[in-house]
Amino acid sequence: MREAMARAVVGDDVLDGDPTVRELEDETARWLGKARALFVPSGTMANQVALGAWTRPGDEIIVQRHAHVTTYEAGAPGYLHGLQSITVGGIDGAMDPAEVEAAIRPDYVHCPKTGLVCLEQTHNVAGGRIAPLTELEAVARVARESGVPVHMDGARLANAVVATGIPAERWAQSADSVSVCLSKGLGAPVGSLIAGDEEFIERGIVVRKRLGGWMRQAGVIAAGGLYALRHNLERLAEDHALARTLASRLNALPGLAADPDSVATNIVMAEVQTDRFDAAALAARMRTEGVLVLVFGKRVLRFVTHMDVGAEDVARVESVLRGILA
Ligand SMILES: Cc1ncc(COP(=O)(O)O)c(C=O)c1O
Repeated sequence: MREAMARAVVGDDVLDGDPTVRELEDETARWLGKARALFVPSGTMANQVALGAWTRPGDEIIVQRHAHVTTYEAGAPGYLHGLQSITVGGIDGAMDPAEVEAAIRPDYVHCPKTGLVCLEQTHNVAGGRIAPLTELEAVARVARESGVPVHMDGARLANAVVATGIPAERWAQSADSVSVCLSKGLGAPVGSLIAGDEEFIERGIVVRKRLGGWMRQAGVIAAGGLYALRHNLERLAEDHALARTLASRLNALPGLAADPDSVATNIVMAEVQTDRFDAAALAARMRTEGVLVLVFGKRVLRFVTHMDVGAEDVARVESVLRGILA
């Protein structure tokens, strides 16, 4: 990947185009079955470009209760676009189509306009769970019946594709715009894309410009993204298998609970059940032994497997934790 980045042909994407960025955008658009895609620095910006391109200030968006777009993007929907949100529950990070239907506002002067429904696949807070395709299709159907566009935060869509064998294009049909990240399991250092039809992308280009996300000689990082898409997709299956192994190893330790059967992709949620540590204290202790883990709640740790983590690392995590918890 580093070699591909060093060799990348670059231009000025803000001026008259960068050929490597264009190649990445075209390849991603084809992968997702959309007309066009736009390269942006981060998954957060990809989502925010979508929100800005689909909505107007004062609109309301419908999101899953723990969606990244409203939970972990620092209030950007309100701060950047003047949006308010209404949250809906569902299993595995999906949204109940009946609840979505009920949340869509009537065309009534006293109500905000429902500007967008947001899906998330895989779902971060749900522990990398995969919402069933039929659920996403049902949500898309109720939204479209009311003329409301659908955005999919597909930061980890690649993981859902590899875990289910359902092509990216098929998942993407449930949404009018789809964001994907190259910098997570796919292993590129930087970069995300947002895909949709021509008109959406033209509006998105303006929003990206306003957010300062239009990058000049970006071919250097786009080359890393192209390499990731071409070489690192299928191997996500190894991360998924390793995540399940990790969950069973963690579950066998005293004071920790992790359910291997609930691991759908590369995320493992573990509950800290001992009175000796809460999640933050345990993570701090692990850090002193060189093992980094994300604190995801008072008693919850989030582990992620990826291309730089192998079976020997999982064995080390287990032995470090065994030592701490003994
Ligand atoms: C579901 C989801 N969407 C979007 C993002 C944002 O990606 P980035 O960190 O590149 O802004 C993340 C990051 O973890 C995520 O989990």
